[in-house]
Parts: sequence; structure tokens; C-alpha cells
Amino acid sequence: MRKDDLVIKITKSPNQVRLMLSDQERAEIEQELAHYPTRQAACVEALKVVQRRRGWVSDEHLQAVASLLGMTADELDGVATFYSLIFRKPVGRHVVLLCDSVSCWMLGSQSLRHHMERKLSVVQGGTTKDGRLTLLPVVCLGACDHAPVMMVDEDLHRDLDSEKIDRILERYG
Ligand code: FES
Repeated sequence: MRKDDLVIKITKSPNQVRLMLSDQERAEIEQELAHYPTRQAACVEALKVVQRRRGWVSDEHLQAVASLLGMTADELDGVATFYSLIFRKPVGRHVVLLCDSVSCWMLGSQSLRHHMERKLSVVQGGTTKDGRLTLLPVVCLGACDHAPVMMVDEDLHRDLDSEKIDRILERYG
């Protein structure tokens, strides 16, 4: 546990922790709850609400969501860490998720990763210096018959090669 976490736990009441979320975020999370049998079952959707508005989920906001759902921060962090589309560190304006599961790997995803790393001067897991792109691995995106595949933000790009990747990335400023 980091020192900052301890301060939050000691000095803030559950209500104060929840107030770290905006009214809008709390309202959107409450709307999501209506679709699930328990508050905990909505936890991924609740994290997505925060991520849509802030780009990623900080420790403080994770704690606020956990409090709202009646979970511990550790329980919710376990879910967030398992779910690769929830970002627990700051990311760039656009997130490039390159599939590294078996079909994509067999059809050259590794060399495409190296191509992007060279082109963007960033290693996988990192963000370009201008804050434009974050390059991350992801498990199968369900488009194996069009491997190699990547997702940029919400957009799926299939049948990739290095030239196609260069053209695609130019669109994300
Ligand atoms: Fe890459 Fe399925 S293995 S999309």
C-alpha cells in the first residue's frame, strides 16, 4: 500500500470518497446498476464510466467506485487488473491495442509490434512523447480470421501489415 492510499483511507469518510466522482459519473453508474442483479456485478461498467470521462482509472477514483458499489478497493482492483480494457495508468489520447494471441502471433503480430515501436519510438506499454498514442498488448479481439488485428480506441482494424498500420495511425492525431 502506498502512503497516499493510507491518507485517503484514514482521512476520508465513505461519502467523501464517493464525492471524488462527479455528479454525472455517479448518475451514469446508478443508471448502469439498473441492468445488473447486484451492485458488484456492474463493476466493469462503472469503471468504464469513469474511464470514458477521465481517460483512465486512478487509485482514488477506483476507491470511489468501490465505495459506491459496496466493494473493497482490492476487490475492484482485481477486476480492473484482469480486464485489459480498463487502464490503471494514464494513457495517451489514443490507445493502440495490438492482439498478441495465437492467430495474430502466427501471422506476424510480433514484427508489427516491432515496426510500431520503431516508428513511434516507444516500447509496448508506453506512450509516445507527444502523448498521442499508447501501445498495449491485448488478448484475442475475436477477429482471428482477419489476423493480425488491432484496436485503436473503439475502432477495430483487420488484415494488418506495416504499411496499413502506418496509414491507420496517421488518422489518430
Ligand atoms: Fe488476434 Fe483472435 S488471435 S483476433
